[in-house]
Formats: sequence, C-alpha cells, structure tokens
Amino acid sequence: MRRVFLAVLGVAACTVVHADEFTEADLERWAAQFESVAQEGRRLWTSPELGTNGVACGQCHPNAANTHPETYPKFQKQLGRVAQMWEMVNWCIRNPLEGQDLDPGDARMTALLAYIAKERRGVALEPGKH
Ligand code: HEC
Repeated sequence: MRRVFLAVLGVAACTVVHADEFTEADLERWAAQFESVAQEGRRLWTSPELGTNGVACGQCHPNAANTHPETYPKFQKQLGRVAQMWEMVNWCIRNPLEGQDLDPGDARMTALLAYIAKERRGVALEPGKH
C-alpha cells in the first residue's frame, strides 16, 4: 500500500516539473486559440441559430450584460438549486429561444462561456452572490 502511494507521489512530482515547461510561442498560440473560441461565442451570441423563434442572446444581454459569471455557482430561482452558469445558458436556450439544451461539453457551450468570461474579464469572483 505504502509503495503504491510513493509510486503515485513520484509520478505526480514528475508531472509538476514538466507542467511548467512552455514557451512564449506556446502562450501566443494558446491566447490565439482562446480568442478564436470567444469570437465564435460572440457569433453564436448574436445569431438566432441556437433557438427556433428568431431570438438571439444579445437582444437581452448585449455584450453579455446581466450574465454575472463571477457569481457562479449560485442558487438560481428558475432551477430551485445551486447551479453552474452553463445550466442558466441552457435555461435561456430552452425558454426565451425555444431551443434544445446543449451538452455541457458541446464546443458551442464552451464558446458561449468563453465569450461571457471575456466580456466580464477582471471582475472579482463573488460565488453565491445575488
Ligand atoms: C428574452 C430575453 C432573454 C434572452 C433572449 C436570453 N436571456 Fe438569458 N436571461 C434572461 C432572463 C430574464 C434571465 C434571468 C435573470 C435572473 O433571474 O437571474 C436570464 C439569465 C441568464 C443568465 C444568468 C444570469 C445571472 O445573473 O445569473 C445567463 C448566463 C444567461 N441568461 C445567458 C443567456 C444566453 C447564453 C442566451 C442565449 C442563448 C440568453 N441568455 C438569452 C433573459 C434572456
């Protein structure tokens, strides 16, 4: 048992050492990837394609206004429990847009969340706040 634990510790230590190895070029590439995903989120935000009634997120939340990503997870009345933000994204897709839920791992969900996070960049985290 103890030997297994030490082996796991050894693997974790190696992983930590290697995890810090990245270059300026890596940082630029990763930032560009983030920008392109957030840009796709902005496109979806202003398009009616997630719903069935011609409504887009941006009509009620221009520039991601009133999305408050910094307050999640928090209790949401509409869901009756503590929820994550993607669950409220799906609530709005189902209700104002009359569309179908996105899987939380769907690339379109990631794009919407990236766009919201980018618009609210720099706001201090306040989980649970109303
Ligand atoms: C017809 C207006 C309308 C449209 C269109 C709309 N929403 Fe909402 N949205 C609301 C309302 C109303 C709430 C509930 C506010 C509350 O009680 O927190 C809300 C809440 C949210 C929240 C949680 C906000 C918070 O303060 O916690 C998110 C995130 C969100 N919407 C994302 C979206 C996304 C993504 C879309 C497009 C798929 C969208 N909304 C489309 C009206 C709209």
